[in-house]
Amino acid sequence: MRHFHGHELSTHRGSSYNAYLIVDEKIALVDTVWGPFADEMMANIREIVDPAQIDIVVANHAEVDHSGGLPAVMREAPNATLIVSRRGQDSIEGHYHQPWPFQAVRTGDKVSLGSRELVFVEAPMLHWPDSMFAYLTGSGILMSNDAFGQHYAAAFRFNDQVDQGELYHEALKYYANILTPFSDRVLKKIDELLALKLPVSMIAPSHGIIWRDHPLQIVHTYQEWAAQTPERSAVILYDTMWQGTRRMAEAIGEGLLSEEVPFKIYHMAISDRNDALTEVFRANAVIVGSPTLNNGLLPTITPILEDLRGLKFKNKIGAAFGSYGWSGESVKLIEGHLQDSAITVVAEGVRAKWQPKEEDLEACRRLGREVAAAIKGAAS
Ligand code: FEO
Repeated sequence: MRHFHGHELSTHRGSSYNAYLIVDEKIALVDTVWGPFADEMMANIREIVDPAQIDIVVANHAEVDHSGGLPAVMREAPNATLIVSRRGQDSIEGHYHQPWPFQAVRTGDKVSLGSRELVFVEAPMLHWPDSMFAYLTGSGILMSNDAFGQHYAAAFRFNDQVDQGELYHEALKYYANILTPFSDRVLKKIDELLALKLPVSMIAPSHGIIWRDHPLQIVHTYQEWAAQTPERSAVILYDTMWQGTRRMAEAIGEGLLSEEVPFKIYHMAISDRNDALTEVFRANAVIVGSPTLNNGLLPTITPILEDLRGLKFKNKIGAAFGSYGWSGESVKLIEGHLQDSAITVVAEGVRAKWQPKEEDLEACRRLGREVAAAIKGAAS
């Protein structure tokens, strides 16, 4: 797959849907897969047990990438109890409209599988109200559903077997694009988990590879990401019709570089939105440009502005720029979007009529230097 959430999220390295079958005196299945892969999952289960022997199905989260296989599993496992969080029953019923034998659990509730137990930890808003983790005692495996996951289809299964750069890039992209708005809850939930002092031999999310080598490394990295302490860098996002706003963007970059502040620059009409957002997540400043079209913005710049508002990035500063012909509202509109996104505008926006003159480009370089100074001021 190259897209997820319909076409909302790019997944350049594919993904995986991880479901975990536990064979003890009782047999439990933790999570399922997206519906089109349900037959494949059932075939995999049949290689190990007769699905009719499954006693317990755990649905940690109702989003269809994990619950899509439930109808097939519940049909073939007629004696299974379906364990959900308290909020999960509502969302699973809302998706499937089936009278399955639900058992709603809360944090600390346990279910014995024989030699081991499943212990449940509710994790609301990581990233849905229903989200939950399941911990397998004895084996020390934390099945964390979306948390600590990555959209990363690797040839191998475990973190020590894959390219670390790819792995961490995909884990970061996942965090930045999905979990950022819930960062405060991430920090609290991690504190709560660490306080339980559970032995953790593996963290097994529902996407991507399983963390078995120093599994808590991703937990500590999440603590860093959730703190949203930015790097001393900037991202320039722009669209352009006839290259005027592009030339302004590049002049702003010159201003940043003259102050030795690194930046990345994205022409949003031809760039991946989620990749750009991952860079914005890391950076201190986001500088946005668009020409004025029909008294507004170029429509191709609007989606990422909507994401900046929705993802609720913290500790960001910004500025706006753009060329125009006769009305020239784009800069004010962008500044309004930045303010709505709690991004502090730290430099006066630059507007250039028609194609930018040298003095307009110099104003852009000055804007770059002003943003660089604000970045350095915040860092000092
Ligand atoms: Fe929230 Fe992987 O689903």
